[in-house]
Amino acid sequence: MVTRTRRLRGCETLRRATRETRISSGSLIYPLFVREGKGIEEDLPSLPGQIRYSPDTVLRGVEAALVAGVRAFLLFGVPEAKDGIGSNSYSEHGVVQRAFENVKASFGKDAYLIADVCLCQYTSHGHCGIIQNEEVDNDSTLQLLAKTALSYARAGGDMVAPSGMMDGTVAALRAALDTEGFTNIPIMSYAAKYASAFYGPFRDAAGSTPQFGDRKTYQMDYHNKREALKRIQVDIDEGADIIMVKPALSYLDIVSKAREQTNVPVAAYSVSGEYAMIKTAAAAGIVDEYNIMCESAASIFRAGADILITYFAKELVQAIRKGDIG
Ligand code: PBG
Repeated sequence: MVTRTRRLRGCETLRRATRETRISSGSLIYPLFVREGKGIEEDLPSLPGQIRYSPDTVLRGVEAALVAGVRAFLLFGVPEAKDGIGSNSYSEHGVVQRAFENVKASFGKDAYLIADVCLCQYTSHGHCGIIQNEEVDNDSTLQLLAKTALSYARAGGDMVAPSGMMDGTVAALRAALDTEGFTNIPIMSYAAKYASAFYGPFRDAAGSTPQFGDRKTYQMDYHNKREALKRIQVDIDEGADIIMVKPALSYLDIVSKAREQTNVPVAAYSVSGEYAMIKTAAAAGIVDEYNIMCESAASIFRAGADILITYFAKELVQAIRKGDIG
């Protein structure tokens, strides 16, 4: 006796044809780091294989990814000068603003540009907002986030992605964007962002480790699930076009619930620690990098993600082309 599933799996063509999860390269977003300076392309030891660019060389990073088949980019700025209010995040000469202008001048609509909107890389204390009495002051931070989002839109950004977890961010950004005529710029909200040790390599790459305390007052406790769903709903009510769950692999239950309970697209961010773990374990000969990359990405889509933000974007496009996933 041979079961139906076995008959189907015996044939490669049928196996692919009957896959329950579909993955396309258009669903991938590739994060890029841009620092102050000229002619810089430096390796990031904490993120093997990733490069930190300056606003001029980022064109090379974007071009390589476009050639590989990636269309969407999430940019993180690493400014030289930081201050208490993160003023370089909304300067029209900021690193991400200049990078956007350069990329749009060279690639136009071929490159879809998303700006991470947060102050932590730009503040001297490394927190995601203005500090008052040793605490992040939510409401005064909102005005700066709105200014930041606007400056990204003016520089050619196609979408803004607020990641600072301040209450009321989505409403503040939507109002500011609409007032200035950027009604078509969507907001992808980091709605369920957990206080996670998986961000470690990113903080090295972006220079955004808090100088005191931690982010537990504004990022979420990993014991909580209902809280995530509530925050997601609040962000949708405020006007988020896409909601995000971050990190991805340890939070697939949240991705799955978000998919079931909402009607907006769900993005998952497979963060720096997830990438670095696979890379270093593979470099040590302990796991097979390619297969683990494919399996992890497929699991995130299987959980219900529509969009995946991943440092493996280029490699995943190749895997989709070969039919190994997708
Ligand atoms: C905050 C931000 C962080 C990441 C994306 N946006 C770091 C943090 O909250 O500390 C992490 C991304 C990653 O780890 O890959 N601006």
